[in-house]
Amino acid sequence: MQEILDAILSSDSTAADFAAIKLPESYRAVTLHKDEEQMFAGLDSRDKDPRKSLHLDEVALPELGPGEALVAVMASAVNYNTVWSSIYEPVSTFGFLQRYGRLSPLTKRHDLPYHVLGSDLAGVVLRTGAGVNAWKPGDEVVAHCLSVELESSDGHNDTMMDPEQRIWGFETNFGGLAQIALVKTNQLMPKPAHLTWEEAASPGLVNSTAYRQLVSQNGAGMKQGDNVLIWGASGGLGSYATQYALAGGATPICVVSSAQKADICRAMGAEAIIDRSAEGYRFWKDENTQDPREWKRLGGRIRELTGGEDVDIVFEHPGRETFGASVYVTRKGGTIVTCASTSGYMHQYDNRYLWMSLKKIVGSHFANYREAWEANRLVAKGKIHPTLSKVYSLEETGQAALDVHHNKHQGKVGVLCLAPEEGLGVRDPEFRAKHVDAINRFRDI
Ligand SMILES: NC(=O)c1ccc[n+]([C@@H]2O[C@H](COP(=O)([O-])OP(=O)(O)OC[C@H]3O[C@@H](n4cnc5c(N)ncnc54)[C@H](OP(=O)(O)O)[C@@H]3O)[C@@H](O)[C@H]2O)c1
Repeated sequence: MQEILDAILSSDSTAADFAAIKLPESYRAVTLHKDEEQMFAGLDSRDKDPRKSLHLDEVALPELGPGEALVAVMASAVNYNTVWSSIYEPVSTFGFLQRYGRLSPLTKRHDLPYHVLGSDLAGVVLRTGAGVNAWKPGDEVVAHCLSVELESSDGHNDTMMDPEQRIWGFETNFGGLAQIALVKTNQLMPKPAHLTWEEAASPGLVNSTAYRQLVSQNGAGMKQGDNVLIWGASGGLGSYATQYALAGGATPICVVSSAQKADICRAMGAEAIIDRSAEGYRFWKDENTQDPREWKRLGGRIRELTGGEDVDIVFEHPGRETFGASVYVTRKGGTIVTCASTSGYMHQYDNRYLWMSLKKIVGSHFANYREAWEANRLVAKGKIHPTLSKVYSLEETGQAALDVHHNKHQGKVGVLCLAPEEGLGVRDPEFRAKHVDAINRFRDI
């Protein structure tokens, strides 16, 4: 492993140097253990502690297949799917691996008694499999997390529609929270040259998701002038949705739960901010009954902030707790676009407000190949910035996941894998200097 790291840290390593490195037989990785699937049975979600379920193990290097790459991972990031996996909710990820393993002898490699997690990475290509021409050892890359087989025509227009669509490092094995990862080379994209390893590793999953959900015609198709209500506007998804709204000439109405998070939104350039804790919204009177007066109160507050207008788009992901309010506050003809249900997936809303006002609910999930590429391109061009707030070591991944689970973080939380320290990997310091304040926004607060 040291030889790999030395080659990455040296400024003059060539593709041939990387290709000549003998790969280790095993590597360190953050794993779940199949025999612990039931470890949290009976506990409340909040009490399920990722520090207990996430292990740092030495695991065998997987065999490289056609169209794949082994990548030395310098840094990765914690996503909410790391939290779901580590608390075994809503289902154990070992079921995903088993199902994937039934597809072919090649996918059988993924069905193991341990699951290497992680759906983001920034690093360096070590080896490519048969049929790969676009990438070579030594290339500095980030990886998006869309894994597809593309054997069915269903996915040929929009790769998210592939019947064998999976999220790498969540529904497949050999993810990015490790020293080495296995990806399909179609997941690879150039690492933005002005970013450090940990900054480059942090946007991938959430940035691509927010791009499809808000900007793409496959999502809400946001346009200039739209009012966009963004739940969790300083969180993983929301911090990118807020940037997309601002960069696209729309007006974000940012919902957050503290004054500190409100300050982060202001630092991004948002002006209309709702502190849901300070304003005390209670959309549910009890477990089964919503309170439409609270929906109205939120709608009134939005109008105060917009000069009397309602929102064209609601960027939804909290789910059960907020969905009734989201449907209510959307303007006539507007769109509620949802990609998640953090607070519960059995949503309840008053359908009269949907059909009578011709509103649309759009489901959105990650991003297709092209959308992920476009989202990464915007980061590389300095139009959209990482929202990294804190960086942990691979050993501390459990703590990092606990922070996200308990909503104690801002923006994105990074993890150093092979990188010995933060701040390495910048190849274009001049371009970085132009954007350094924006890049550090979430770190300074
Ligand atoms: N389908 C996909 O492709 C996809 C991709 C990425 C993420 N997701 C899912 O989307 C969800 C959010 O992911 P994330 O990375 O943005 O997580 P995150 O970093 O934790 O941010 C979510 C934010 O939502 C707000 N929030 C949480 N619970 C809420 C509630 N009950 N009511 C109102 N606001 C609430 C919180 O902000 P405040 O406390 O400041 O309000 C929190 O910071 C997760 O469930 C994740 O699994 C789905």
